[in-house]
Amino acid sequence: MMNFDTPIDRRGTGSLKWDRRVDLDPYWVADMDFTSPPEVISAIRERVDHGVFGYAVPHPSLVETLQGYLQDRISYSATEEQIVHLGGLVPALSLAARAFGKPGDAVLTCTPIYPPFLGIHDDASMELQTVDHAKVDGHWTFDWEALEAKVTPQTKIFVLSNPQNPMGRVFTKEEILQLATFCEKHELILLSDEIHCDLILDEKKTPHFSALNLPEPLRDTTITLLAPSKTYNIAGLGYAFAVIPNDSIRRRFTAARGHTLPEINCIAYHAAEAAYKHGEPWRQDLLAYLRTNCDLLTSTIREKIPGATIPEIEATYLAWIDCKDLPIENPIQVIEKAGLFLSDGAYFGHGRCVRMNFGTQTERLKSALETLVNSLR
Ligand SMILES: Cc1ncc(COP(=O)(O)O)c(C=O)c1O
Repeated sequence: MMNFDTPIDRRGTGSLKWDRRVDLDPYWVADMDFTSPPEVISAIRERVDHGVFGYAVPHPSLVETLQGYLQDRISYSATEEQIVHLGGLVPALSLAARAFGKPGDAVLTCTPIYPPFLGIHDDASMELQTVDHAKVDGHWTFDWEALEAKVTPQTKIFVLSNPQNPMGRVFTKEEILQLATFCEKHELILLSDEIHCDLILDEKKTPHFSALNLPEPLRDTTITLLAPSKTYNIAGLGYAFAVIPNDSIRRRFTAARGHTLPEINCIAYHAAEAAYKHGEPWRQDLLAYLRTNCDLLTSTIREKIPGATIPEIEATYLAWIDCKDLPIENPIQVIEKAGLFLSDGAYFGHGRCVRMNFGTQTERLKSALETLVNSLR
């Protein structure tokens, strides 16, 4: 069993999470306070020891590893051509907007949502259309009626986060089928960001249904985006990949790249390979640890902050805390005053909500929760 309890001093390492606001205790941006799997660190070390860092290509054993991963985890047989390597997932979202939209067209998504989803339309001079997620039987799902009312002939892309950041939902097969049918009806590209799919806390209860699992012809107009970065805590290395089954869509996507994206670095390729190849036992230990943190956080908020609501977290190490029913005008301000750095829900399209990252040592989380409870109560 990996030991995730050991505190790691990240201050002064050039960490976005820890060094942006040194006056605050950070629980915001989505990276974890854990070292990566030892096999990933060894692979990086081995590549560094080679000493030459020229331009890189995805080496054959990486491609085989990705194909094996897609087969084992998603039951999808990808050809080498269908896999498009990328230096990050957010640039891929932006690239898709530029590939499939022109000025005046629109990107559609549901809120609250990971903030870049609300900005990629700008890169292509497109419009943004948003629809709030709806709560049905205590579960956050899609508001189909509102989506039908919002979509226009100008809408070209639906951007999906599955599992959903920030609410931690793992959408069901039925929901993804209905969404893909909606996209087919309105001739939208379904851009499916599945970066959190290996962070499902109980896969027996909430299995991942990827856009790649859609039947033809629904799958044919999808772009699925994946990465080892969130799960294995290597986001700073910059690597993600798209799986695009349809040839012409893939060509259009890669053509839009132009000269806008940097080469992917050789270390990121080797780290990605090692993560997928050797990381599974570590990932299982991580999920067990995250489940404990998730239970602690959920029960603390529910028991000790009456009025705050928190959804059932099915995936991710992120908790979405809705403070709209608390008698507090600006919760993030109150929380910062207490010394904690959380994510402001306003950036996700919902003010008076906050997102808390629980991918950290349980003892640290306990102390932060105590501070949070005292500040909001
Ligand atoms: C849904 C989602 N997509 C993409 C990213 C970031 O991807 P990248 O760092 O590869 O750009 C994140 C990071 O938190 C995320 O939550």
